[in-house]
This record gives sequence, structure tokens and C-alpha cells, in this order.
Amino acid sequence: MKITKAVIPAAGLGTRVLPATKAMPKEMYPIVDKPAIQYIVEEAVKSGITDILIITNRGKSVIEDHFDRNPELENALEKSDKKEILNAIKPISSMANIYFVRQKETKGLGHAIQCARSFVGNEPFAVLYGDDVIVSEEPVCLQLIKAYEKFGLGVVGAKEVPEKDIGKYGSLKLRHIENNHYMCTDMVEKPTPDKVMSLFSILGRCVLPPEIFDILDATLPGAGNEIQLTDAMKILAQKNGMIAVDFVGKRYDIGNKLGIVKATVEMALQHPEIGSEFKKYLENELEF
Ligand code: UTP
Repeated sequence: MKITKAVIPAAGLGTRVLPATKAMPKEMYPIVDKPAIQYIVEEAVKSGITDILIITNRGKSVIEDHFDRNPELENALEKSDKKEILNAIKPISSMANIYFVRQKETKGLGHAIQCARSFVGNEPFAVLYGDDVIVSEEPVCLQLIKAYEKFGLGVVGAKEVPEKDIGKYGSLKLRHIENNHYMCTDMVEKPTPDKVMSLFSILGRCVLPPEIFDILDATLPGAGNEIQLTDAMKILAQKNGMIAVDFVGKRYDIGNKLGIVKATVEMALQHPEIGSEFKKYLENELEF
């Protein structure tokens, strides 16, 4: 079955980047001139996704506004002959069918995904974490969809993380299959050192079968007293196996301070309008 639906959870509290996230969702951080979540929606669209559900909460209506039209702004740009900017903002509202649902209580990523049940129905679907921007030639979401089509199993995007950091992530039990594909048969969220299965962790993207919803319904709060998506995927991995794709792409974690700064600097350096000037500026600054 062709995967056309994606879910973007964006209802987290963003406590690691307070006070910036007190009134502004981290998913709306501008990386040079585009909010993080727009990069993510564009990745989904380039992967063949036509319908996107964004999970939001109170205080995140600015995300809805971003994907709506703004006729006053469009008219003003038209009149002042700023066609280039107009061409950059107009397509934002028509890239895909974008829907919103509110997670009424912040009970964890697994709980956020549960809110997508009636949108997803009985189809496999992609999940793109709202605070993970990944830059790659072939969209990472598409890399995972291709693995789903090939193996017919749920898929997680994975990367090795430094040993000192694995306790902050999930750890995967893996067996190599071919190229950058692994069979995952178990996983653990935020492992203590004795529970680490490998340094491979799920980062930012997955493709899930609809069975995940029944599993989530039976999933009790885990690490941090939140309903963890990893705890539900663990059941899936133990029962059927899941595919882990060591994806090709550079990931920026917009949920932490250093991630935001790295994304901004690297994207600014590549930006057609300001890239070369910014490079000169940085070189100058770094001389001292
Ligand atoms: P994170 O755990 O990185 O987000 O969740 P967080 O809870 O905002 O982080 P901190 O620790 O407070 O800084 C990964 C993704 O899942 C979403 C987040 O918005 C983020 O995009 N999420 C998380 C939800 O939608 N709902 C939740 O209850 C938790």
C-alpha cells in the first residue's frame, strides 16, 4: 500500500530551550528564513506524502497560521512588486492537505501519536518529529518509505550516537541485513549503562503500521512518566521485527540550544542570498 499520510508531532513543551519556547513553539524557530517545521513538511511532500496531520496544543496556533494563506500580506507584496517573496510564501499553504489536532495533555510522544488514530485509519504512515530537521539529497522520509515497501515491516530512522549520550536516547538491538539496513528485534528508551543494546538510536523519523495504535492503547507511562513511542515500537520489534535504516542525511535537533545554533550556522553558510557574506563574517570573527 502506497504511503501518503504523515504525522508530525509538535506538541512538546520544549523545556530544554526555555525561555524561548515559553510563548513560541520550538517547531517555529526560523532557520535563517524558514521555520523548522516547514523544512519537515517539505521533506514529507518530496517523499510523496499528500496528507499531513500536525499534532499541536494550546499556544501553538501560530503553526496553523503559518500553513494558512495570508491574503493581506499577499496583496501587500503584490502591490509593492515583491514577487520573489510572494512566490516563496504562496505555496506554503498548498503544499499538501494539512490537518491539525490538539494533544490535550502533554503525556509524551506515544500519546501524541495516539491522537492521530482517526486520521491514519488502517494504513501505514510516516512520522516526522517536529523538532528534527534533516537535510539530505534523497529525503530521509522517502528512504524509510522505500524500506517499508521492500520489507513490509515498520521502519525506524537510526544513527549511531556517542556512548556518553546514549542514555538520553533509545538504544536498538540490531542485526545487519544489507547496505544501511538492519533488522531490529528489540529496543529500550533512555537506557541505563547496563541496558544499552547498541549505540544506534532512533532519530527523528519512522514509518509505522496501523497496529501501533492498539499497542499504544496498552502502553503504560514509561521513562519520564510519559507514554513513550519507543515502548510501543519495542513490542512491534519483538513481535514482527522492524527495519532500522542508517539514513543518509544530516540531522539537526531543534529541541536543544546547540542543535539550533548548528542548524542556523550551517544553513546560513549554504544560503544563496547571504551564504558568502556570512562566511566572510565568520572567518573574520574566528580570527580573534
Ligand atoms: P521531545 O521529547 O524532543 O520534545 O519530543 P519535548 O517534550 O518538547 O522536549 P523537552 O524535553 O521538553 O525539551 C519529540 C517530538 O515530539 C513532540 C515534540 O513537540 C517533538 O517534536 N511531542 C513530545 C509531542 O507532540 N507531545 C508530547 O507529549 C511530547
